[in-house]
Amino acid sequence: MSHKHPVRTIAIDGPAGAGKSTLGLGLARHLGFLYFDTGVTYRAVALAVLRRGIAPEDEAAVSALAEGLHIEVLPPRPDDDLPYLVHLDGQDVTHALRSPEVDAVVSIVAAFPRVRRAMVAQQRRIASGRQAVVVGRDIGTVVMPDADLKIYLDASLEARAARRHLELTQRNVASRYSDVLEGLRQRDRLDSSRADSPLRPAHDAVILDSTELSAEETLAQALALVEARNAALAPHQSAP
Ligand code: DC
Repeated sequence: MSHKHPVRTIAIDGPAGAGKSTLGLGLARHLGFLYFDTGVTYRAVALAVLRRGIAPEDEAAVSALAEGLHIEVLPPRPDDDLPYLVHLDGQDVTHALRSPEVDAVVSIVAAFPRVRRAMVAQQRRIASGRQAVVVGRDIGTVVMPDADLKIYLDASLEARAARRHLELTQRNVASRYSDVLEGLRQRDRLDSSRADSPLRPAHDAVILDSTELSAEETLAQALALVEARNAALAPHQSAP
């Protein structure tokens, strides 16, 4: 990757439960960039599908609906502890995107090729011209192949399951480690075998393995990558 300006766009991809959101939000807060979790665009499609009473399996109807939506991601208000705000056709839907009903149908609609094409276009528009940390599954490979820094955040299946299980338990959600492990194993299989945008590292991504790292250590390593990229540019910038 060669670029002549300090890092402005950072792509973070990786399997479910690797800690992409925690890292992405930490980086964005540290750098003063927009945090853009691209999963919200697929969640917005799912929400619209539920609100219009369309069957999530009706590929033609879901695709046509997705192609007509307008999604905006905005920085949070200063007094808010939300990481961002999401507007769907002008309406704030930030909270509605996290409902169990949306959880239940989002992976169905996110697999439709026309939905993905429409959302990739929205994601590029949302991120364009901004300093942003963009988090997803296919950001470095499909959405932003020209991102200034690409991080593929990995962790062992067992480490990801243990973190997810702990998080659920701390939120008083009944959870069994063996179920969480099996759920993640299935999502890995679906995500990596999907014909359209399968989960894989971009050829120029830095692979960061967080299996043995805390969230703080992972953030420190990612910040070091940003600093190294910026430092590599410094001699050119200071040349007379
Ligand atoms: O990360 P999440 O749970 O909010 O993602 C919601 C859904 O969207 C999930 O099924 C994965 C999918 N997704 C995707 O296919 N590509 C992305 N860039 C982001 C999310």
